[in-house]
Amino acid sequence: MTSLDGATVLVTGANGGLGTQFVHQALTRGATKVYATARRPHDWDDPRIVPLRLDVTDPDSIAAAVDAAPDVTVLINNAGITPATTSLLASSDADLRATFEANFFGPVRLATAFAPLLARHPGASALIDVHSIASWYAFAGSYSASKAALWSATNSLRLELAPQGTQVVGVHVGYVDTPMAATAAGPKVDPAALIAQVYDVLEAGGFEVLGDDLTVQVKQGLAAPVEVLYPQLLG
Ligand SMILES: NC(=O)c1ccc[n+]([C@@H]2O[C@H](COP(=O)([O-])OP(=O)(O)OC[C@H]3O[C@@H](n4cnc5c(N)ncnc54)[C@H](OP(=O)(O)O)[C@@H]3O)[C@@H](O)[C@H]2O)c1
Repeated sequence: MTSLDGATVLVTGANGGLGTQFVHQALTRGATKVYATARRPHDWDDPRIVPLRLDVTDPDSIAAAVDAAPDVTVLINNAGITPATTSLLASSDADLRATFEANFFGPVRLATAFAPLLARHPGASALIDVHSIASWYAFAGSYSASKAALWSATNSLRLELAPQGTQVVGVHVGYVDTPMAATAAGPKVDPAALIAQVYDVLEAGGFEVLGDDLTVQVKQGLAAPVEVLYPQLLG
């Protein structure tokens, strides 16, 4: 279990809907410092919040963040993008690669770059990877594929970081009421409630967050024949 009390947290995509919640709720739970990283960082008007420029698709930017934030104890891979189309077949090669750069290579490179720093805090360090229900349900083309890949990477990271005392939490959820899901129809999870759940799981020593009922159902469906999860295959 990793307490946020006294932690130093780094959040990617901090300006976004979930990112903002990650920043503020870490402080509410006692974090002493939060690096609020973004492609275009802004002043947060709080001395505990350190704005930092970080583009997760740029290895030089990641290296600079490691130098600027050597005291990180909790790394939160939150930044992500949705591609222009939900069709895999209609995706251009450039779109596919851009989606994987932001949603897969970026978070994995960040975990790799910060792992030695997290190792300095055995039993008090953590990595949180924000996946999606899309990791387990292919409704969104390259977005789903990238989140499935990140889920697999998170499982590897769980195993590889456990010996150094770094807890790894993966987050799966359906639509959340943020700018990313602004045009989506259907019920949306409240971002504040989701991040409270994520931090509860982190501080309780858990490994996985299932943010809504639909995600729970889809995860259960993975154990069934594929046509149960995708009944449209039966015509
Ligand atoms: N909202 C949902 O329904 C939902 C559901 C499941 C999972 N998620 C996941 O939750 C995470 C947070 O998304 P959100 O809902 O908070 O959406 P959001 O409000 O659109 O925030 C996404 C953030 O990611 C940042 N970002 C994108 N590419 C980046 C890059 N190359 N480097 C650094 N930052 C980058 C964006 O920065 P800019 O401001 O510079 O564009 C933005 O601040 C994402 O990983 C998303 O896939 C969201």
